[in-house]
Amino acid sequence: ARRMIEKGRALHKRTAELFLQCLREDPQGRQGREYLHKRGVSDQVAVAFGLGFAPLQWEFLTKQLVQEGYSPEELERFGLVVRRAGGEGYYDRFRNRLIFPIFDNQGRPIAFGGRVLGDEMPKYLNSPETPLYKKGQQLYGLHVAGPSIREKGLAILVEGYMDVIACHQHGITQAVATLGTALTAEQGRLLLRYSSSILILYDGDRAGIAATEKAGLILTSMGARVQVLQLQDGMDPDDFLQSQGAEQLWKVIDKAPSYFEYRYEQVRQRHGPTSIQSKVASIRELAPDLLAIPSAVEQEATVQWLARQVGLSESSIVEELRSLSQGGP
Ligand code: GTP
Ligand code: MN
Ligand code: MN
Ligand code: MN
Ligand code: MN
Repeated sequence: ARRMIEKGRALHKRTAELFLQCLREDPQGRQGREYLHKRGVSDQVAVAFGLGFAPLQWEFLTKQLVQEGYSPEELERFGLVVRRAGGEGYYDRFRNRLIFPIFDNQGRPIAFGGRVLGDEMPKYLNSPETPLYKKGQQLYGLHVAGPSIREKGLAILVEGYMDVIACHQHGITQAVATLGTALTAEQGRLLLRYSSSILILYDGDRAGIAATEKAGLILTSMGARVQVLQLQDGMDPDDFLQSQGAEQLWKVIDKAPSYFEYRYEQVRQRHGPTSIQSKVASIRELAPDLLAIPSAVEQEATVQWLARQVGLSESSIVEELRSLSQGGP
């Protein structure tokens, strides 16, 4: 198994090189270079993220890598080729796509994502889970962002490949992505090794807002200091940076509320602040967020703050939490 993993690492390293070469030197890679230019990605940032291009060929990798001594079965096990339905042979999984290698936190490529250059579907294609790659255990961009996260004491969590890259392009070097899936506890633990302060900056659409709540709850329960910035009009960080720039993004980041304040504001807007019913509903809806806070001191301070906002006593909120956590009312 050890040997198989080693072979897989070598295979990914070589594949990343081939895709990179294609983007840089092949005539077909030109559309990829133009696409990056159109999206404002410099050569320097493209190189930092090891971006590549998969040509429009059925057997680009299949032929080259078999010639270099890998077996088709090995290529298939690591998700780079797909077996032809019912027939003989294999074909490349990634074709005619801009390639985003996914690196582990030590900077070794372990999987790939590929984006179409137009509107075809699916927009992104990713490596399946393999002996090297478990998607819930990785954060995209961490190998580049890690040192910056430590230095600045803040991690910025975004959704997509292009959000990470646009952030770096604009000097916001502590961005990492969950790649469209819900943040897992493992990803949370990984991120907390770099910083205990985390800003969630997901897409400002329905899916992004739902994912923000889940990620916020997980990170809060791990003792992180969590802030949330919700972008307007369905924008994502890349859209925001293209239209308003980094200075403006830092301005709103500086004013970003804590996760709990963000949740309170959401609930307040939904229920309104005044009636008895709305107060009760609000407390009940916020209970999981309060109960998730692992530090007793921080939990009490948060209850104190909430009590003041809604005009109730701390003791009644604590009492309510107690009965809710015991499965009531
Ligand atoms: P751009 O259009 O390139 O700016 O992409 P985006 O990152 O803004 O895409 P979106 O907000 O739709 O998705 C966020 C992330 O989810 C992407 O970066 C991908 O990692 C993932 N994702 C999006 N679409 C797909 C898809 O069709 N298939 C898979 N497997 N993942 C996707
Ligand atoms: Mn989205
Ligand atoms: Mn997006
Ligand atoms: Mn986008
Ligand atoms: Mn710009």
